[in-house]
Amino acid sequence: MQRTFSIIKPDAVSRNLIGQITQRFEENGLSVIASKMIRLSTEQAEKFYAEHKGRDFYEPLVGYMTSAPIVVQVLEGEDAIAKNRQIMGVTDPAKAEAGTIRADFALSVRENSVHGSDSPESAAREIAFFFDEKELCPRN
Ligand code: PPS
Repeated sequence: MQRTFSIIKPDAVSRNLIGQITQRFEENGLSVIASKMIRLSTEQAEKFYAEHKGRDFYEPLVGYMTSAPIVVQVLEGEDAIAKNRQIMGVTDPAKAEAGTIRADFALSVRENSVHGSDSPESAAREIAFFFDEKELCPRN
């Protein structure tokens, strides 16, 4: 079993897609073991995305992620990190494989509906960024 971290981004929350996106995770073998809706502060978003500081998309990304509420979740399942990235599809929805969340719901590279951890190290850091260990509710 592995854990990964997921964000349902402002464009998806504002279009009432929380349920449909979470269903994609659940029907593909990922269980939600923690979930909360939050509004990121600029400081939080800058820290969360610090690895991208200096890239041309950094400021638009921080601005976007603080523009409206998001849902942060911890997903658990076999090979959860790779599985979640497969369910999400690639960053640019125009290039995402049919049937993925981004192909079906995302509006643009910026408004791309979801974030998912890209490695075990990122997953551990990102989960700890938003959740205390005692907030996680594993199934067994
Ligand atoms: S990289 O180069 O692979 O690290 O970058 P990538 O994973 O493709 O993108 C990193 C995050 O930046 C977001 N992104 C953007 N946001 C706003 N505007 C533009 N143009 C843009 N391009 C990329 C992308 O959605 C990734 O966000 P997260 O939340 O990590 O999925």
